Amino acid sequence: MSEFDPKPPRRNFYGRRHGKTLRQSQKGYLSEDLGNLRPRGITLDENPERKPIDLAQIFGDDRPVWLEVGFGGGEHMVHMAARYPQIGIIGCEPFINGVAMLLGKIRAAGVSNVSVHPGDARDLMDVLPEGSISKAFLNYPDPWPKARHHRRRFVTPEHLIPLYRVMKPGAEFRVATDIPDYVRQTLEEVPQAGFELISEGKDAWDDWLSTRYEQKALREGRVPHYVTFRRKG
Ligand SMILES: C[S@@+](CC[C@H](N)C(=O)[O-])C[C@H]1O[C@@H](n2cnc3c(N)ncnc32)[C@H](O)[C@@H]1O
Repeated sequence: MSEFDPKPPRRNFYGRRHGKTLRQSQKGYLSEDLGNLRPRGITLDENPERKPIDLAQIFGDDRPVWLEVGFGGGEHMVHMAARYPQIGIIGCEPFINGVAMLLGKIRAAGVSNVSVHPGDARDLMDVLPEGSISKAFLNYPDPWPKARHHRRRFVTPEHLIPLYRVMKPGAEFRVATDIPDYVRQTLEEVPQAGFELISEGKDAWDDWLSTRYEQKALREGRVPHYVTFRRKG
């Protein structure tokens, strides 16, 4: 394990944590930038009692905080941070190559309202205060195409119940996917967790920025689908 690995997971995580060997510049971003951008108190080591973390301490004031789950290469997150400088955005991504890509984009864009958890969203949600997130994004979540793996998808109670807890009443939850069966499961399971469906279809949000996975889906002839929910309560 490299020095950038978060604590070995207590939960099953079926995705990849490492990809191709990192470029020298990317290793530099991880060693120079991640320490300052990483929220403290997420890992079991740092916070064994799982006390709620203080978001005002991360962003320096009590601005609205948004959450992006599985930011991949980070293009959407940096775009949102640049477009909405008055908010703070926390992203989670266990795939360290994606984290390194994001850090490069943060440097290039010069945004300062981003916080980066290089690990599982469930560990972050454990310690986020109740009702602390004003908007959440789930862009092209891992599809887990085999029926026997559908319970690994993010749109299951294991993830949605904590997400409901950490979101503010009325807060928006956006899901983008190119997998019709993922749309089906999203429309079934997200409302059961306490979210109201606002819209769904093939039109992207006005402030959407297409991600790497969306570009791949388009090249391969799949059709993006955008779903918006509002947290009830
Ligand atoms: C298909 S990729 C999409 C990446 C990016 N959002 C995009 O659209 O290009 C899904 C990402 O979700 C991440 N992921 C999977 N489970 C996660 C979890 N429990 N918490 C945070 N990220 C997760 C994976 O590591 C992967 O990078």
